Amino acid sequence: MTTEAQEVLQQAEALRAAADKAAAGVDDASGLQAWRVEFLGRKSALNALSKGLGSVPEADRPAAGKALNDLRAKLEATYQELERRLHAAAEAGPAPPRDVTLPGAPAAVGTLHPITQTYYEIAAFFTQLGFAVAHGPEVEDDFHNFSALNFPPEHPSRDTQDTLYLAGDWLLRTHTSPVQIRVMLEQEPPLRVIVPGRCARADAVDASHYPVFHQVEGLLVDEAVSLADLKGTLAAFAEYLFGAGTKIRFIPDYFPFTEPSADLSISCVMCGGEGCGPCGGTGWLEIAGAGMVHPNVFRNVGYDAEKWVGYAFGMGIERIAMLKYGIDDIRLFYENNFDFLKQF
Ligand code: PHE
Repeated sequence: MTTEAQEVLQQAEALRAAADKAAAGVDDASGLQAWRVEFLGRKSALNALSKGLGSVPEADRPAAGKALNDLRAKLEATYQELERRLHAAAEAGPAPPRDVTLPGAPAAVGTLHPITQTYYEIAAFFTQLGFAVAHGPEVEDDFHNFSALNFPPEHPSRDTQDTLYLAGDWLLRTHTSPVQIRVMLEQEPPLRVIVPGRCARADAVDASHYPVFHQVEGLLVDEAVSLADLKGTLAAFAEYLFGAGTKIRFIPDYFPFTEPSADLSISCVMCGGEGCGPCGGTGWLEIAGAGMVHPNVFRNVGYDAEKWVGYAFGMGIERIAMLKYGIDDIRLFYENNFDFLKQF
């Protein structure tokens, strides 16, 4: 093909592109008119090209002429289409005004995790009784997590709270009780605090165990405190959390940092004490450890063990949330499963 013919084809192609681009910007009658004059008018580049066809060598002239005819047909079709669209838009009339009084689309609002909600519920009870909230580190040292709490170095009670040991003396705390020590080292009695927090133990995962879990600790130190105060407080707490008529039971247990020590159980929330699957037929559900602060603990923090008396308790938040909401597998709390979480 001759260069003259190639030239015509290239210009026709450029013209087509320019016309398409300009057509996209046409949005009213005067714009349409201007477009028509530019691309299809007497002085259009297309007309100039057509007039120049004579200089294309004869052999190529039919091909070049066909390209220009095709372009003209295409431009005319575009013109018809633009005109049709403008007409339709005029028929439809102006867009209706925005009604700013219509209610907006509600924003998606999240909720607190059931563990957090359960903690807030527990905290609401104790803060009303004058308990302050204290926090401590999740990475603890042996002193706060064990020794100061009266766990002798080689005592088997440490085995029940195996955990992840870090370099040196550091470990992931196995309970919130080390914060008892931190609070007492910082404050003089009388005092009453609750301590929420994350804990870790080397437990195998199953429906009721997870290596990371949460506890709420309680500690009260004063001059005339008895086991009856502890029991009365926890009895009121059990009714607050699980409803009127919930009974509690203390059975003896052992913790190095309390003496005497007890396990707190509530009457089964599923069967009301008759005995069912979830309570293992006993009618009771264990929810906390508790007891009177051991005098050695007071000595370890420099309190006068002859003068001060105290009680302490510690409960698993997951366990309580599971009982409250009827959740049968602890793993559900940690899976970030939206279908599960949005129920709370
Ligand atoms: N820290 C104990 C545990 O995790 C619970 C506890 C707290 C017991 C306070 C008595 C007093 O098993």
